[in-house]
Amino acid sequence: MEKRARSAKVIGRRDASARRRGTNFLLCGVYTCCLFTIIRFPNLSPYILGSFPLAPTTPQQQQQQEDGGRLWEIVDTPNCFHLDNICSWKDGWFYDHGPHSTLDNTTHMNQPSAALILDKQLIAEHGWHDPGTLDIDFRIHLNISSTSHGQYDDNMCSYSSTPNHLVVQSFYNDMMGEFYARTIIGLQQLMRMYPPHSNDDIQTYIHFINKKWRIFEGHELFLSGLPNNNELDNFLSLMPRNDSCRCFRRLILCGYHGVDEHDETLDGQWKEYVNKTGDGQQNRYLISPTHGIEEKNASASKWQELRVELIDGISKRYNDLDQKIRGYQRQVLFDQGLLGGDIENSTRNVDEWKFVGLARRKYRRSWLNINDTLSMCNERFQQHHIVCLIVDVEDSESAEEQLIMHRSLDAFIGIHGAQLTQGILLPSHGLMLELLPYIPLNGWGGWTACTEAPTALGVIFENTDLNHFGYSLGTESCSSSCNLGFNVRDFNVSTEVIADFLSTFVLKAGKNSTMTCDDMKNETEERERFVLYNAFCQPSLSERAFINEHYYHARPRLEEDEEDKED
Ligand SMILES: *[C@@H]1O[C@H](CO)[C@@H](O)[C@H](O)[C@H]1NC(C)=O
Ligand SMILES: *[C@@H]1O[C@H](CO)[C@@H](O)[C@H](O)[C@H]1NC(C)=O
Ligand SMILES: *[C@@H]1O[C@H](CO)[C@@H](O)[C@H](O)[C@H]1NC(C)=O
Ligand SMILES: *[C@@H]1O[C@H](CO)[C@@H](O)[C@H](O)[C@H]1NC(C)=O
Ligand SMILES: *[C@@H]1O[C@H](CO)[C@@H](O)[C@H](O)[C@H]1NC(C)=O
Ligand SMILES: *[C@@H]1O[C@H](CO)[C@@H](O)[C@H](O)[C@H]1NC(C)=O
Ligand SMILES: *[C@@H]1O[C@H](CO)[C@@H](O)[C@H](O)[C@H]1NC(C)=O
Ligand SMILES: *[C@@H]1O[C@H](CO)[C@@H](O)[C@H](O)[C@H]1NC(C)=O
Ligand SMILES: *[C@@H]1O[C@H](CO)[C@@H](O)[C@H](O)[C@H]1NC(C)=O
Ligand SMILES: *[C@@H]1O[C@H](CO)[C@@H](O)[C@H](O)[C@H]1NC(C)=O
Repeated sequence: MEKRARSAKVIGRRDASARRRGTNFLLCGVYTCCLFTIIRFPNLSPYILGSFPLAPTTPQQQQQQEDGGRLWEIVDTPNCFHLDNICSWKDGWFYDHGPHSTLDNTTHMNQPSAALILDKQLIAEHGWHDPGTLDIDFRIHLNISSTSHGQYDDNMCSYSSTPNHLVVQSFYNDMMGEFYARTIIGLQQLMRMYPPHSNDDIQTYIHFINKKWRIFEGHELFLSGLPNNNELDNFLSLMPRNDSCRCFRRLILCGYHGVDEHDETLDGQWKEYVNKTGDGQQNRYLISPTHGIEEKNASASKWQELRVELIDGISKRYNDLDQKIRGYQRQVLFDQGLLGGDIENSTRNVDEWKFVGLARRKYRRSWLNINDTLSMCNERFQQHHIVCLIVDVEDSESAEEQLIMHRSLDAFIGIHGAQLTQGILLPSHGLMLELLPYIPLNGWGGWTACTEAPTALGVIFENTDLNHFGYSLGTESCSSSCNLGFNVRDFNVSTEVIADFLSTFVLKAGKNSTMTCDDMKNETEERERFVLYNAFCQPSLSERAFINEHYYHARPRLEEDEEDKED
């Protein structure tokens, strides 16, 4: 297995291939390194300047574009570009130059030739997908010659009533945390800059590089917080078909990277291909999937802005959400016999309770003693008006259900991993506890367990109005299976650790907090294995203002570390 984070005590070290694939930063403390990929893009070749003009261009801009020639080359979004009046039929894609086209002939002649390059080597080079395990979906293709025309057939072809069809791609987009941090945030910032007239103007598609990946409710959920017509589909669904010719006013692709045709890593077959489709012009685009969508307007509070906007956007898609959340909470209480009388008309107030979700995963990294933890919590904490419940996204049948499940919680506890991404849906002042897998000293997977900075997933809670904690599991969590990779081994968590978290933090912080920032800091520091990555707290209880504090520290020394040193 690849060892990603090594021991070097270097801050901000870059490796040689970082030039291409973004920059890897190693943040190292004494015991562990946290490795992050900061999505950053190199200077791009002129081929891939793109634009994302979801708003109509002004007559003045239109004029500038015409003077400057090419409609698709404005605006500073180097990994999005668009093709206009494009059709998909039979074995390929072509531009419609016919009477239904909205571009004049001159502009048309400047439409680029484009080839989407799905090349194992190139993808591996730009990211770190292991080329050996990647089953690239070659059913997806987009190759179009700038002079392709004359194929439009009025009897066969028709334009979609949705003007913009947006394809999003990012590496590891089968994993929700990665999708959130590589696609959703960049897209939100872009849409803020180029807001569409209405949700109906955009239909979104996901491009999964890997053939086996598919759309999950989580994808749907997060995308439904951004403008689009709610008809999410796989990019594959746009591929040319014999039985119908479909045309689109605008096809926008985001999450791609320009490839220089002289790139030495470019496979020979693609060079040939470029020659075939390039029409001998300089106006051609060779694009390859890249890390994700570049952020264009990031601020220190970007994760909070994203969270607020998504929750707002998602909520607008559903009716009576507050009532449904209330109903779900009542059901939880009812199921545990905590509602006096009957579920509909109990006078007991759900607001008196705090709801704590324990995240269950069915395979890989499952929480073995989750049931003991649930029993412990409900036996010992119901008297304090804390009720625990199992949260399993795989049990949900819709994006709405996922939203309600998480929006109902005051606290959410689970192992580092994609399902904690839904924690961003917690209400303000919510508490997140990320259980950090045991990683041997300098072992593979350090980025899942770091305490000097948020974990690779945890960054999404940074500077939000949530309290994000971590707890470092030791070998007691995995007994005989500690030698397996963190990503596949199951774990136990001492119920006393959870009890301590509930009584120290869930009871006193969060909703109706009686803890100041200092209290939270001190309580965390007294517990070596806890870290408080992001506190949303009051400097003093007399002030109503809440601020963000970060109480990072070096990874705690675990008893096991001595033994680890031997290997
Ligand atoms: C486009 O590329 C695909 C895959 O390489 C190929 O099967 C198809 O024939 C090409 N279409 C055109 C019009 O060149
Ligand atoms: C484009 O050129 C074709 C002939 O090549 C002509 O029939 C058509 O009207 C022109 N369209 C526009 C918008 O100028
Ligand atoms: C950039 O983000 C800030 C908030 O962080 C927002 O107020 C501003 O409108 C954004 N700018 C653009 C051009 O969208
Ligand atoms: C489409 O039609 C072409 C020729 O008419 C044929 O070779 C091809 O197999 C057909 N493709 C599909 C998916 O039916
Ligand atoms: C592509 O075309 C150029 C000039 O037309 C030629 O020099 C070059 O060898 C061709 N490359 C390939 C890979 O066919
Ligand atoms: C509460 O529900 C019970 C059983 O459905 C019903 O008999 C009772 O009248 C209800 N009380 C109120 C106040 O609606
Ligand atoms: C929190 O305070 C509100 C009033 O501000 C009260 O109604 C509610 O019961 C309190 N909740 C808890 C869990 O103490
Ligand atoms: C927890 O209990 C449920 C039934 O209450 C059972 O289906 C599940 O397998 C148990 N989980 C574990 C990890 O023991
Ligand atoms: C988890 O705890 C159970 C019960 O104590 C024990 O039987 C099991 O071996 C533990 N598993 C791991 C992986 O630590
Ligand atoms: C936190 O700890 C510091 C240092 O031990 C102490 O000075 C301070 O009074 C403590 N604050 C609170 C709120 O307990």
